[in-house]
Amino acid sequence: MITEPAPAKINLALHVRARRPDGYHEIETLFAFCRDGDAVTITEAEQDSFAVSGPFASALSGEGNNLVIAARDAFAATFGPLPSLAITLDKHLPVASGIGGGSADAAATLRALGRLQGVAIDDMFDVALSLGSDVPACLLSRSAIGGGRGEKLTPIDGLADTPVLLVNPRVAVSTAKVFAGWDGVDRGALGEIADSRNDLEPPARQLAPAIGAVLSKLAEQSGVTLARMSGSGATCFALFDNAAARWAAHAAIAAMHPDWWYLESTLA
Ligand code: C5P
Repeated sequence: MITEPAPAKINLALHVRARRPDGYHEIETLFAFCRDGDAVTITEAEQDSFAVSGPFASALSGEGNNLVIAARDAFAATFGPLPSLAITLDKHLPVASGIGGGSADAAATLRALGRLQGVAIDDMFDVALSLGSDVPACLLSRSAIGGGRGEKLTPIDGLADTPVLLVNPRVAVSTAKVFAGWDGVDRGALGEIADSRNDLEPPARQLAPAIGAVLSKLAEQSGVTLARMSGSGATCFALFDNAAARWAAHAAIAAMHPDWWYLESTLA
C-alpha cells in the first residue's frame, strides 16, 4: 500500500501575460503548497478499482472523468503496463475551486505509481503537463515560480511554516470560463510578493460575486500579511503573522458565514 499526500495549492500571485494560439494563456505565478489536502492510496489488488471517500466525495461525478484515473492511464501509456490496482482518493478539498484539488490528486497518483514502478519524479513532468497546466507544479509540490502555462518551474524557499487560512464561499467556477473573461491587458511581470495580484480575480468575481465578500472579510482580520484569491477562484486565502491570528480570523468569519468552507493550514 502506498499513500501520497495531495496538498492544496495556492497562487500567491498570478499574472496573465498573453493569450496563446493554442488556447491557453501565458502566465507568471507564485505557487505555494499547504500541508493539508487530499490523499491518494494505491494497493495491488485482484482487479482495478477506484473509490472516493472524504467530505467532498459526493462532489465528484464518477470515475470516467476523474483525473486520478486519467493519471493512472497516462502513466501506463507512457511507462508500460501496471499491475491491477485498488486506488482510493480521500477528498477533502472542494472541487473546481482554484486550489488545484484535481491537479494535486493527479500528481499524487503519478508519485505513488512512480514509487511502485521505480519511475523518478523528474521523468514524469511531461505526463503531468498532459493532464493539466497545474499538474507539474503539484508533482513538484513545493514553492516555485511558474511560467508558460504554469509548467516552467523555478523552486523558491522562504515560505515554509507560514500560517494560512483558506476560505471558499461554496461556489464552483470553471477555470476555462474565468480565463475567457480576462480582459487581455498585460499588467506586467511578477514583482515582489508585496505587490502581488491575481489577474483572474476580476473575471472570477463576475462569475462568482461572493469572492468579493470573502476577500473583504479576510483583509479586515488582524495579523493578515496577504489576502488574495487563488488560481481561478473561488477559494481565497490569507497568510498570517502567527497561528493564533489565523485561528481568531477563522472563528470570526465562520461565526458570520458558517456555510462557507474553511481550511486552517501552514505553507510547506
Ligand atoms: O490545463 P487545464 O486543463 O487545467 O486548464 C483548464 C482550462 O483553463 C484550459 O482549457 C484553458 O481554457 C484554461 N487555461 C488557460 N491558460 C492556462 C491554464 C488554463 O487558458 N495557463
